Amino acid sequence: MKKYNIAIVGATGMVGRKFLEVLEERQLPLSNCYLFASARSAGKTLEFMGKEYTILELTETCFDDKEIDIALFSAGASVSRKYAPIAASKGIVVIDNSSAWRMDDEVPLVVPEVNPDEILKHKGIIANPNCSTIQAVVVLNPLHRRYKIKRIVYSTYQAVSGAGLNGYLDLQNGIQGKTTLLKFPHPIFANCIPHIDDFLDNGYTKEEMKMIQETQKILGDHSLKITATTVRVPVFHGHSESINVEFERGFDLNELREVLANSPGIIVVDNPKNNEYPMPIYAENRDEVFVGRIRRDDSVASGVNLWVVADNIRKGAATNTVQIAQKLIEYWENGRLNR
Ligand code: A2P
Repeated sequence: MKKYNIAIVGATGMVGRKFLEVLEERQLPLSNCYLFASARSAGKTLEFMGKEYTILELTETCFDDKEIDIALFSAGASVSRKYAPIAASKGIVVIDNSSAWRMDDEVPLVVPEVNPDEILKHKGIIANPNCSTIQAVVVLNPLHRRYKIKRIVYSTYQAVSGAGLNGYLDLQNGIQGKTTLLKFPHPIFANCIPHIDDFLDNGYTKEEMKMIQETQKILGDHSLKITATTVRVPVFHGHSESINVEFERGFDLNELREVLANSPGIIVVDNPKNNEYPMPIYAENRDEVFVGRIRRDDSVASGVNLWVVADNIRKGAATNTVQIAQKLIEYWENGRLNR
């Protein structure tokens, strides 16, 4: 198999470091690797696949003298908005973890368990969805195909690691009794903050609108009725979501469980009599999405309640991005896409 050259943009960040870990675990066929971050980190080193790499500064010309096949970006939306098109213009396929390109009609928004063939339509940039959207659609897609979803109500309980290193530090400092805040507008220790990303004029946050619009795009149905409330909770790793779903068609609850259990990337943990249900502490460092508390919503003709948990930095970010890279390489190798 041919070997490919890869670049990581934002290599020193929480997700960037996880990219390296997941690339190594999944043993992608890689030869050269280039690690980019800001001028603050340039010259420092990071270890990857047993080798030490010097971090390079991301600049407008940094891709010029290098043969790079794939670049994984996780350095924030403004960096992606500026540098992803520069990389793409050099023939590099960018897989972008920021929100910059997700809702662009020309950019595929991909969860490999759900819509891998969208990758075939790429024009140089492929977007990785928001962490809370990814774990939701892995579970909702097989149910939508079978029972046709009419309406979704999302309520999330999101870990501080989703807000980057400073979010993590706000919880750690709070536990130690320190009151300085680096990221959140309020203390997160012993608290819940119903505010993730900026507020919009319609009263929703950007995070809530991302969940709504990205779910519609990935499931390929812009008529889906969706509402969302997203909340930051004092958990380090792992997002939890209560998802209420209303279907067009009727369903048998045991069959619905089977549909979930037999779908890729999902583990059903649903034995409440033994206190068994998904929880963030058990999802940490796992690539699967966990679903439990599966029960009929008797307040509507055909509805179900689900509790969905995943590691937001792995399946919600790094793992999904690396899975997209793996699919891309598979399509190059089997001739479905030309390199
Ligand atoms: P650096 O460490 O040099 O600041 P996180 O989301 O965990 O805060 O990580 C953000 C990542 O994005 C880091 O690797 C950070 O690099 C990188 N980054 C932030 N701003 C820039 C920029 N203007 N140019 C290049 N990389 C950037």
